[in-house]
Amino acid sequence: TNHPITAKAHTNIALVKYWGKKDEQLIIPQNSSLSLTLDEFYTETSVAFDDTLTTDTVQFDDHLLSAQASQKITTFLDVVRELAGITTRANVITHNHVPTAAGLASSASGFAALAGAASRAAGLTLNRRDLSRLARRGSGSATRSIYGGFAAWQMGEDDQTSYAYPIAEQVDWDIVAIALVLTTAQKKVSSRDGMRLAVNTSPFYPTWVQSSQADFKTIETAIASRDFETLGHTSEQNAMRMHALTLSSDPSFSYFNADSLKAMALIRELRAAGTACYFTMDAGPNIKILCQGQDAPTVMSQFQQVFGPESVVLTRPGNGIQISD
Ligand code: DP6
Repeated sequence: TNHPITAKAHTNIALVKYWGKKDEQLIIPQNSSLSLTLDEFYTETSVAFDDTLTTDTVQFDDHLLSAQASQKITTFLDVVRELAGITTRANVITHNHVPTAAGLASSASGFAALAGAASRAAGLTLNRRDLSRLARRGSGSATRSIYGGFAAWQMGEDDQTSYAYPIAEQVDWDIVAIALVLTTAQKKVSSRDGMRLAVNTSPFYPTWVQSSQADFKTIETAIASRDFETLGHTSEQNAMRMHALTLSSDPSFSYFNADSLKAMALIRELRAAGTACYFTMDAGPNIKILCQGQDAPTVMSQFQQVFGPESVVLTRPGNGIQISD
């Protein structure tokens, strides 16, 4: 038995979304994406390879997962085993740290932490680029969670060239994300299924690929010049264009619920009244509000009045992956 290795990785919120794969097996995306890693939400995972085990065992927030529930993790561990040239099974213990009950759990922090802990436990010493390529095999958004602050996932065209890199790991301006928790229910259409449907059926898909590349350049420039309004506006537009792909898929669907629409209206109202705040949204009804620290108290109190005192969680830019033994 080798001693366990622990890794901690934070989740990230995409400002330019990843929505669609070119290669489903290797998880090569159709467009490059760009994100901000968040401090408050993270996953801590420890992995030990153990010769006496006959199957992988996965303990998730103190529950032992069934073989079926841990299938994605076992498949991922197979990738690690192949890289390391071993066949040993592993013990995986993972904890998701989210400040409120469920709903914000993320495959991004989960697979980034697993990639870090499992690769090191298997005897591999990967640099961060190769670690991001490995995390990508678990879940696309995990590719970016290797880095802190602003990070980009260059789409590339194959396993070698599709990886993440840091844009600004230390964020030296006062940007915050407010997570608005509207529901803790599980999403109905997984990102995996939702993006496949968009690629295969939305007539707007080619336009999405084009416009997301333009958004990428605009946000990259906005980060370099600390232009918050351009960053916020472009992120919001990009999110809405991603959601337009779900509406234009066949069959069409939506991740919005009535509260999501209500929250968007409130953000537009606050903006009309002079507060620079913008929203973004992933594959579920919860919303993340982007604003500057100086405006956070005003924005939070407005949302607390409408959605309740427990509905908002303030998050700041977070660090990249940490692996300890
Ligand atoms: C809307 O990374 O969860 O959050 O690669 O199939 O595991 P898989 O998908 P996943 O998709 C994330 C989609 C998104 C946008 C983003 O994070 O870029």
